Amino acid sequence: MERKDGRKPEAARKTRMTYEQLLEGEIGVVADVVGFANSQMTSIYADTTVVKSPEVVYRGVLSSRNRFISEEYLLNFRRSRADMSQIIGVNNYRLPSVVQSQACRRHKEDPAKLVPLPKFGPMNEPIGPVIRSRRSFRDYSGRPIPLEQLATILYHAQGITGKMELRGIPKTVTFDDDDALYVRAAPSGGGLYPISLYVFAMGVKDLERGAYRYVPEHHALKRVARLDADFDVNRLGQFGEMNAQAANAFVVFVYDLYANSRKYGDSGMAYAFIEAGEISGHVHLACTALGLGACDIGGFSKSEIEALLGLDGLSRHAIHFLIIGNR
Ligand SMILES: Cc1cc2nc3c(=O)[nH]c(=O)nc-3n(C[C@H](O)[C@H](O)[C@H](O)COP(=O)(O)O)c2cc1C
Repeated sequence: MERKDGRKPEAARKTRMTYEQLLEGEIGVVADVVGFANSQMTSIYADTTVVKSPEVVYRGVLSSRNRFISEEYLLNFRRSRADMSQIIGVNNYRLPSVVQSQACRRHKEDPAKLVPLPKFGPMNEPIGPVIRSRRSFRDYSGRPIPLEQLATILYHAQGITGKMELRGIPKTVTFDDDDALYVRAAPSGGGLYPISLYVFAMGVKDLERGAYRYVPEHHALKRVARLDADFDVNRLGQFGEMNAQAANAFVVFVYDLYANSRKYGDSGMAYAFIEAGEISGHVHLACTALGLGACDIGGFSKSEIEALLGLDGLSRHAIHFLIIGNR
């Protein structure tokens, strides 16, 4: 389309080059980009390569026997309305005994064995600028952060922010004071909270270096492992160019498979990943509001982290990992 000022639109502008420049610098790059972007899933070699990289599996999707496990999962997790199993699973959770047992959750930990956290600090930044200025941060300064900042992040990620009275549930003498369900900052399918946050605290004032689990019901930490002074954080994941050794804390999102699959069946896993994303968003925004940096790490060492945290890797899985630090 002709512009009013008579100049050609950006896309139509031409760059002069010699034939040699075209051959040497241009055609190869363009061919590679077009080759990747055509997204053809028709490679006949997908079953014969030794290493099944994601690209190889993807190229062979239409012709090969190799599939992504996640593809199988997505095809199966949400079945038709005729599938009664999910409806029965959900209805079971309306039984008074089940609701009451959920209400007892806060008695699982003995407060005397926990490390108490200070009350969360102020975070009065307007949410619009906080959302707009959030960026993944990778160049940490190494300065320690106050314990109050860690407490503020954890509280806004997963802290208890509300109470739902149990209605229509008969009172018992035993459960008399367990008359409410305690709900948290981030949403959770059915309020079952299958995600736990674990923290490798490396540079937090007034907190011994170590691995801890956040206990929302008591706004406290439970120590799960001590870390030697020379503990190498590169054991936790692949950090590329970022100076992870200067970060203050590493947060691991752990999914307890049966905590929600007992109700939701196969859909439980999808709900857990959604919940992890919601909590992670809170962590990022809290860090931004506090002037701290944060970055998700896809390349975390799942089995190594699970071993360090004493998780079996069967029913309890590390499913997400992020790094927090002073700028
Ligand atoms: C699940 C997930 C995994 C990620 N893994 C890494 C990682 O291993 N290393 C890294 O530097 N950034 C990682 N990131 C951050 C992305 O690179 C980043 O969000 C993206 O480049 C957009 O930049 P922004 O977050 O600053 O807006 C990850 C993000 C997500 C959501």
